[in-house]
Amino acid sequence: MADLRVNIAGVDFANPLIAASGTFGFGREYQEFYPLSTLGGISCKGITLMERPGNPPPRIAETPSGMLNSVGLQNPGVDHFIEKDLPWLKQQGTVVIANIAGNTQQDYCRMADKLSASSVDLVELNISCPNVKQGGVQFGTSCQGVEEITSAVRKYCKKPLMVKLSPNVADIGEIAKAAEAGGADAISLINTLTGMRIDIRTRRPILHNNTGGLSGPAVFPVAVRMVWQAAQKVKVPVVGLGGISTWQDAVEMLLAGASALQIGTALFTDPYAPVKILDGLNRYLDENHIASVTELTGAVCPYGN
Ligand SMILES: Cc1cc2nc3c(=O)[nH]c(=O)nc-3n(C[C@H](O)[C@H](O)[C@H](O)COP(=O)(O)O)c2cc1C
Repeated sequence: MADLRVNIAGVDFANPLIAASGTFGFGREYQEFYPLSTLGGISCKGITLMERPGNPPPRIAETPSGMLNSVGLQNPGVDHFIEKDLPWLKQQGTVVIANIAGNTQQDYCRMADKLSASSVDLVELNISCPNVKQGGVQFGTSCQGVEEITSAVRKYCKKPLMVKLSPNVADIGEIAKAAEAGGADAISLINTLTGMRIDIRTRRPILHNNTGGLSGPAVFPVAVRMVWQAAQKVKVPVVGLGGISTWQDAVEMLLAGASALQIGTALFTDPYAPVKILDGLNRYLDENHIASVTELTGAVCPYGN
């Protein structure tokens, strides 16, 4: 059997599959399907300094091969996470990643400070949420913004720091470099692509927030392209996500340059998606006599045009 272990930013993962933030809650709902130790890690729902109710409904819409969401970071706040969710999560035998979002740089720094004193394994900086009025993506769409917020949080964050990038940018390679320059130990991408649907009878947008984030298989080729471009520009590990729903997608994303993967929207249509992906990946490695999953990372042979 091939070696599925990966190391991201100094943290050991039993396998490269991580549940993506916002699609797995804080894990409790999924424990009835399989032990959470089946997964390499869990990126928890994005947390903020204070509790947030999120956006008013409707905040989910189906799209061809995907979905639009504008949940707007509904969460119980960082203190609740540390006191109530983290102790339970740490008993599940998987890597626990805290995904954080803020309205201001100070918010991010205060959360990083609090989490540094906790048992969380890794912090994922969400500077790419398109569904809140203030914060999130405002920090993530310019190189200067990305480098500034990363280096500010870096000073407070004693945990390995992964910066989650927005795809709603012109040059993802430059953005990735800015995160690395700011002190990121790893980067993850992509968050959702901003989209919109309109009800033709009412002439109202389908989402109350008017716009939302597109995810699912529809975004997969965009994610592969961006992971490929980002991975060529940075030395830190790249965690690839966006539309992965089969083991073939997982192999593709690794070949593009990902060292680990996150599975998001696929969990909504099939909670067992990560288990099936892991099985298929394992078989693929064995059939191709590949000793370690790490050998796939960046192994694409691009045309030299
Ligand atoms: C309902 C929903 C909620 C999400 N919430 C968060 C969040 O809180 N923080 C975050 O960084 N990303 C969030 N995301 C983005 C996902 O983690 C992921 O980056 C994106 O959906 C692309 O991957 P996928 O196509 O596999 O879902 C959310 C996505 C969905 C669909």
